[in-house]
Amino acid sequence: MTFPSEWLKLREPADLQARNRVVVAHLAADLSGRDGLHAVDLGAGTGSTVRALSPHLPQRMRWTLADNDPALLAEASWRLPEEQVETRRVDLDRDLEAVFDPVPDLVTCSALLDLVSEAWLDRLVERLASLRIPFYAALTYDGSTTLSPGDPIDPVVVDAINQHQHGDKGFGPALGPDAGAVAVEKLRTAGFAVESGQSDWLLDSDDAALTHALVNGWAEAAGEIGLLAPVDLGGWRQRRLAAADAGDLAARVGHIDILARPGAA
Ligand SMILES: C[S@@+](CC[C@H](N)C(=O)[O-])C[C@H]1O[C@@H](n2cnc3c(N)ncnc32)[C@H](O)[C@@H]1O
Repeated sequence: MTFPSEWLKLREPADLQARNRVVVAHLAADLSGRDGLHAVDLGAGTGSTVRALSPHLPQRMRWTLADNDPALLAEASWRLPEEQVETRRVDLDRDLEAVFDPVPDLVTCSALLDLVSEAWLDRLVERLASLRIPFYAALTYDGSTTLSPGDPIDPVVVDAINQHQHGDKGFGPALGPDAGAVAVEKLRTAGFAVESGQSDWLLDSDDAALTHALVNGWAEAAGEIGLLAPVDLGGWRQRRLAAADAGDLAARVGHIDILARPGAA
C-alpha cells in the first residue's frame, strides 16, 4: 500500500495538533538530559514524527527513518537536517528485525499500528521487550468517527470504514481500529509500563481540504465493503463533500497515543 506525499502533508497539521501532549511530555521527561540518543521511526514517511518530537527531545538526537517508499524517504531527507537523520529503505513486514541493529534507544511510529497485523505486532513487541527499548506509538486510529451535523447514513459508512480498516495493508490482516487496545495489552503482558491518551483529530471549517479528502477516501472504502447501495453512498458523498467545501462539516476522528517503558530488569 502506498501513501502519497500530498496525503501525508495534508494530515500532518491535524496530527501535530492532535498528538497527546501529556504522553509527549512524559517521553520528553524520560529522555531529558541524555546525550547521543538514537531513535528509529517505523513507517516514517516524510518524517512527521521527527518534526513533531524534535522540539521536545534532546537537541543532538539522531534518527533513523525506516520506510519502504523511496520517494517519501527522499522527501524526508531534504526536509530534515542531514546531521539529524538517516533514511533506511526497508520492508518492515519482511525485515522488521533489521532495524534493531544497531539497537536503538527509542522506537517510534505514527499512524502505523492500525495498518499492521497481530502477528507483526507480536514480532515488534517481542523485539522491544527482549532489547528493553521504550516505544512511542502515536495516532493509531481507534474506530470512532463522528461527523457533525449528522447524516442518517453516517453510522453505516463508519461501520464500513472500520471493516475496511481490517484489510491487508501489507502486513497481513490489519488490526485496524483494534490496534491501539491490542498493542496496550501486548506491551503490558510483555512487562512494559504503558500509558496512553487520546489524540483525536478535531476538524472544522479550517480543515476543509482534509475533510474533503477524508470524505472521498471514506466513500471509496465504504464502496469496496458494499454495505450501502451505490446510489445511497453516492448521495452521502455528494452531501458530505458539499458540506465540507462550504465549511459546514465538522469531524472527530479518534486516535490513541501510547508510551511504553520497559519494566524493571
Ligand atoms: C499512514 S503513513 C504514516 C507516515 C508517517 N509516520 C506520518 O505519520 O506521516 C504509513 C507509512 O508506513 C509506510 N509503510 C507501509 N507499509 C510498509 C512496509 N511494509 N515497510 C515499510 N514501511 C511501510 C508507508 O510508506 C508510510 O510512509
